[in-house]
Amino acid sequence: MDVTLDMLDYYRRRAAYYERVYHKPERQTDLRAIEAWVARAFVGRRVLELACGTGWWTAHGASHCKQWLATDLNPETMAIARQKPLPERRVSFETVDAYSLSEVGNRTFDAAFAGCWWSHVPLARLPDWVATLHRHLQPGARVVVLDNSFVQTSSTPITRRDDDGNSYQNRTLDDGSVHEVLKNFPTPDAVRNLLGAQARSFEWTDWTHYWAASWTVGT
Ligand SMILES: C[S@@+](CC[C@H](N)C(=O)[O-])C[C@H]1O[C@@H](n2cnc3c(N)ncnc32)[C@H](O)[C@@H]1O
Repeated sequence: MDVTLDMLDYYRRRAAYYERVYHKPERQTDLRAIEAWVARAFVGRRVLELACGTGWWTAHGASHCKQWLATDLNPETMAIARQKPLPERRVSFETVDAYSLSEVGNRTFDAAFAGCWWSHVPLARLPDWVATLHRHLQPGARVVVLDNSFVQTSSTPITRRDDDGNSYQNRTLDDGSVHEVLKNFPTPDAVRNLLGAQARSFEWTDWTHYWAASWTVGT
């Protein structure tokens, strides 16, 4: 199977207990700080969220937004997200392929958010993904991508790298099945260089277990 389809299947099967990763004791300080940071990032914005999963970040990111469209390709993860305490009438959910965004049609937004998605996109697909996302954003739109840093004592070990430079982890689900998942840990320069001139006001924020890149879509 294609690595991106493997990833989709893996998260579908993991949906019911995905949020255990947010209960790891060593990540709690970071999580509280990032929840507050994400809540401040989208004040008054109309936000498109990609790959929202179980909506851990949706609830926080949407707290001061104008509108928030949370999307994922797995109905199983979104079913959990829909149960979260969310700002009334401002958050909606749709099934959308984050690669094509075809289901979004000609709608545009003035902000976008993706949590733990960038790291799963094969390096060769990132430029197209960024270009596709930017086509759905207005000039001046704010983009935030948040993702995991590699921490030896907390992260799943990397088992191999491919010729394109992607790294992989073997992850075991509760049913005992083992899944090879593409998971990259980029440097700030790698993200900045990939975005190039289309991204203005690039900022990189590091916590211990997470990083975030934010930028403004150029005119
Ligand atoms: C690592 S989880 C991130 C979930 C959530 N954003 C978070 O940070 O907790 C990756 C998510 O990507 C979703 N996904 C996988 N392939 C996708 C695709 N092609 N389009 C949209 N979502 C996809 C999975 O269903 C899963 O919910």
